[in-house]
Amino acid sequence: MNLATRYLGLPLRSPFVVGASPLCDDAHLARQLQDAGAGAVVMRSLFEEQLAPLVPEVFGDAGLGFPEYADYQLSPDRYLRQLELLKAQLSLPVIASLNGHQPGAWTEFAVQLENAGADAIELNFYQVVTDPAIAADQVETEMLRTVGEVAAAVRLPVAVKISPFHSSVAQLAIALELVGAAGLVLFNRFFQPDVDPATLEVRPVLRLSEPSELLLRLRWLAILSPQVRGSLAASGGVHSAPDAAKALLTGAHAVQLVSVLLRHGPPVLRTLLRGLEIWMQEQGFATLADFRGRLNLARCRDPAAFERANYIRALQSH
Ligand SMILES: Cc1cc2nc3c(=O)[nH]c(=O)nc-3n(C[C@H](O)[C@H](O)[C@H](O)COP(=O)(O)O)c2cc1C
Repeated sequence: MNLATRYLGLPLRSPFVVGASPLCDDAHLARQLQDAGAGAVVMRSLFEEQLAPLVPEVFGDAGLGFPEYADYQLSPDRYLRQLELLKAQLSLPVIASLNGHQPGAWTEFAVQLENAGADAIELNFYQVVTDPAIAADQVETEMLRTVGEVAAAVRLPVAVKISPFHSSVAQLAIALELVGAAGLVLFNRFFQPDVDPATLEVRPVLRLSEPSELLLRLRWLAILSPQVRGSLAASGGVHSAPDAAKALLTGAHAVQLVSVLLRHGPPVLRTLLRGLEIWMQEQGFATLADFRGRLNLARCRDPAAFERANYIRALQSH
C-alpha cells in the first residue's frame, strides 16, 4: 500500500501533515510525530504583530489586548532557531507559518524563513472585518498583494490558509494561485469568543475541533479541486481514518491534523495511517492517486445548482 503524495510540490510519504500548532515547539515531540508516520509538519504561526513591533497602531496598543512582545511563545529569533533545529533533527518537510492580514514589511521575514531551511511557507489570513467602510474586494485585494509579496520574495512554495467567509471562495482561490500561491489550506478556524451570563464577561475560548467541522471542508474541496492547479490541504475536523479518506476523496492532497493529536498524542497517527491502509485495501486502491478527487464535482455540470438542489432535498426530507 503506497500512501505517498505530493503537496506544494514536495514529496510526502503520507498525506498526514501536522497542522500549525504548538506540536512542533518541542523537537522531541516532532520526532515522535515523524516516527508515527507524519508526512510533513507545520510550525505554529509567527504573527504580523510580532514582526512589526515598532508600529504602535498595530502592536501592543494598550486596551486592544495584544500580548506584550515577550508574551508570544516564540520570538522571531527563537522561531528561526527552532526551525533550524527541526530541520536538523527531522527528515520530513518542515513548513513555517506566518499569520497576518495586510501587506507590509513583515512579509520580508519569509526570506529569513527560507534561509533558515523552511521547505515551504504557510500564510494564515486571520481577520475579522468589522469596519463597515471596508468593502469585500478591498479585503481580498490586500490578501492578494500580501501573497504576491511573499511569493515573489522567496523561491519556496507558499500555501495560503484561508477562511470560508468570502462571498466567492472559488474566484478567490484562483486569484490566489495567479499571484503565486502553490496551494490552499481549507480552512482557517475562527476562535469565537463566548459570553458568560453569570459574570457578564466575554471569554476567549480555544476549543478543539469536532468531526462535524469537516463537512464544510469537504464541500469546498469537492468544488475547488477540479478548478485549481495547485495543492489542497484539509484542515479542520479530521479525527479518524474515514475522515481522512473523505478529504482525499473530495480532492485533498494532504490532510492536516491538530486537535486529534493534541487530544491523543502522536501514537494516534499510527492508528489513522493503519485505518486508511485497511480502507484502501477493502476498496481495492493501491495508491492515493487511485481515488483522490473521485467524489469532487468535476463531472457535475452545474455545481451551484447541485449544491442548491441538495439543500432543498435535505430540507424536504425532514
Ligand atoms: C492550540 C492550537 C494552536 C493553534 N495555532 C495555530 C497557529 O499558530 N497558526 C495557525 O495557522 N493555526 C493554528 N491553529 C489552528 C490549526 O492549525 C487548525 O487549523 C485547526 O485546529 C483545525 O484543525 P483540527 O481540526 O485538526 O484541529 C491552532 C490550533 C490549536 C488547537
